[in-house]
Amino acid sequence: MSPSGHRYNPWDFFVVEDKETLKQLSVSKAAGAALIENAAAAIVVTADTTKTDVWVEDCSIATIIMQLAAEELGLGSCWVQIRLRKDAEGNDANDNVKKILNLPEHYAALSILALGHKEKESKPFDEEKMLWERVHY
Ligand SMILES: Cc1cc2nc3c(=O)[nH]c(=O)nc-3n(C[C@H](O)[C@H](O)[C@H](O)COP(=O)(O)O)c2cc1C
Repeated sequence: MSPSGHRYNPWDFFVVEDKETLKQLSVSKAAGAALIENAAAAIVVTADTTKTDVWVEDCSIATIIMQLAAEELGLGSCWVQIRLRKDAEGNDANDNVKKILNLPEHYAALSILALGHKEKESKPFDEEKMLWERVHY
């Protein structure tokens, strides 16, 4: 039910719980993906890029809404960026993820949402540090 431009719903979500696949995804890009290996599960957010020119926006909104839903369920989550990222050898992270999931050419992976039980609860944002000067009237 995440909003999408023209309600084209371009996404396909891949829920991964298989340990070996989580491990492969954790090295699909060079930095910031290692946490996937020990995550309880991950959701790969992909889209059929031929359906709409705003698949990046649609997938971003879906990812953040899943983070809010996870929070509501008491689960921790972390957005792992795939689009425009490279692995340790300089290969495209999106190509790596597509190979792991056997995705067709016209699909793209925007992000991987790693999910798990929180080790610790983060403090809420300090209201005094809100960047109100960035709001312009
Ligand atoms: C577009 C985007 C890409 C991100 N990519 C990664 C990533 O690849 N790896 C990672 O560990 N965290 C990633 N994050 C998580 C951010 O680092 C995190 O949301 C930010 O530090 C805020 O954390 P906080 O809510 O605890 O303040 C990404 C977040 C966004 C919105």
